[in-house]
Amino acid sequence: MSERLSPSGIPIPGVVRPDDVHVDYTRDLADPGQFPFTRGVQPTMYRGRLWTMRQYAGFGTARSTNERFRLLLEAGQTGLSVAFDLPTQMGIDSDSPRASGEVGRVGVAIDTVDDMHVLLDGIPLDKVSSSMTINSTASTLLAMYIVVAEERGIARSALSGTVQNDILKEYIARGTYIYPPDPSLALTAEMFRFCAAEVPQWNPISISGYHIREAGATAVQEVAFTFADAIAYVQQAVDTGLAVDAFAPRLSFFFAAHSDLFEEVAKFRAARRLWARLMRERFGANDTSCKLRFHTQTGGVTLTAQQPLNNVVRVTVQALAATLGGTQSLHTNGYDEALALPTAEAATLALRTQQIVGYESGVAQTADPLAGSWYVEQLTDAVEARALELLERVDALGGAAAAIRAGFFQEEIGRSAYEYQLRVEAGETVVVGVNRFGDGQDPPIIPSPDFSALEVGQVAGLKQVKASRDNAAVQAALQAIFEIAPEYLPAHVGARAPLMPRIIDAVRLRASVGEIADTLEQVWGRYQPTM
Ligand code: 3HC
Repeated sequence: MSERLSPSGIPIPGVVRPDDVHVDYTRDLADPGQFPFTRGVQPTMYRGRLWTMRQYAGFGTARSTNERFRLLLEAGQTGLSVAFDLPTQMGIDSDSPRASGEVGRVGVAIDTVDDMHVLLDGIPLDKVSSSMTINSTASTLLAMYIVVAEERGIARSALSGTVQNDILKEYIARGTYIYPPDPSLALTAEMFRFCAAEVPQWNPISISGYHIREAGATAVQEVAFTFADAIAYVQQAVDTGLAVDAFAPRLSFFFAAHSDLFEEVAKFRAARRLWARLMRERFGANDTSCKLRFHTQTGGVTLTAQQPLNNVVRVTVQALAATLGGTQSLHTNGYDEALALPTAEAATLALRTQQIVGYESGVAQTADPLAGSWYVEQLTDAVEARALELLERVDALGGAAAAIRAGFFQEEIGRSAYEYQLRVEAGETVVVGVNRFGDGQDPPIIPSPDFSALEVGQVAGLKQVKASRDNAAVQAALQAIFEIAPEYLPAHVGARAPLMPRIIDAVRLRASVGEIADTLEQVWGRYQPTM
């Protein structure tokens, strides 16, 4: 029987026997909720609380997105997840010529805190946790979230949620960077400090492997490169004087779930064990700081435009992988997303998929149900060993930022993506409806919605805010940001003045995303990719 390989290239024997598995059930497994957390971060896992059903949503205006949020919450979703348009992510106001054609397209358009009030209208911020997929401008959007709560009389300590705020993966795979790595990492550390002190239930970062995987990485690379980034963030925060246990319990992660069920379950189990060991051995962290808490999204790149209903099954398999793997929060993709933004019907079916997995499949009845499977334990060992080996290669290059500058991640991911495509084109990797079992039907063409009217309305709204605010006070608040921004550059020695309070002051005065981003860019400059 010819050797079979998993999607990550791990040899898969035809039969796995006990002596193929070298697991020390006390050291390597322990119980759920016990170090090294292979079996899950909570003692009771989903028996105590199901994962958060957290569907990523956002398009057009704050009002249209708020309506989708309400639809999903009424359908039983248990957490929010905000998608922002590219101008908001890139620190560009809707009235900038650079924003034209992108306002409200891939996510919701947010210019000032007034838009945020509309986005969150009717959402109980002290009861529902919100995730915001925002990176370069994460500090500004978090400031807006805090000011909305403040203006509704909700204390910062009552807020729970997450900002993605993972700038390193933007350089590697996603691209919504603004500033160079040094000031960006310094700002990340400032957000760790601020959240630990002021918003204790808030997760100041969601260190993401999802986009690295979407760019073509294997499961092993996804774990290794995500942890390389995570180690860089932890080291930066420790170097600024933060105690590791003061912020590490609130680090969160974000991974993909693809269709090879057993490799994906093994990936999540291996990631928890590897992270726990890295945090204890490299940073002397306590057990709470060693818990890998993560969100999972089913693999966007696995969706096919051909025979789109097949995607309902793919998403179901991937949701099973995520939950058998112990995710804390889950987004399931709409079956039509290879074609266009998900319709309300597809988004609801995606949520129903999670609900059926959660309430009907039995997955939630016991913690880590695949533990002890010789196959899953052997795969868990293999993923952990290979990810650590790859991580040590990044260490040898000087860590994540150096590896990015050297183009290491990009080269590794590009090779994996190319090799995968070769296997698909050779028919070795089957994609049902695409390279086998096709029906000769061309994928339906979904016309892209016309966003021009939306853009006109958004620009008019921003103009009205700028006309009605106290512009002298806004300029003074922007100047206060400008004055301490140099302290976030490498040349600065000693403690830095806190930046978050000044961003909050500016946001409260209705300064815009673009005005704050431009102020920082005047001092920090703009990142120029090396390759
Ligand atoms: N027993 C006791 N307590 C339990 C429990 C159990 N079994 N299970 C959970 N709990 C507790 C937790 O401890 C927590 O309490 P705490 O905050 O006091 O510790 C509370 O219940 C909530 O549980 P979780 O923290 O596990 O779940 P959340 O959903 O609140 O948080 C997270 C999950 C991963 C930590 C968080 O960071 C999160 O929600 N992340 C979401 C990120 C996200 O949605 N990203 C989307 C990105 S979209 C994107 O980028 C893709 C695009 O670019 C294409």
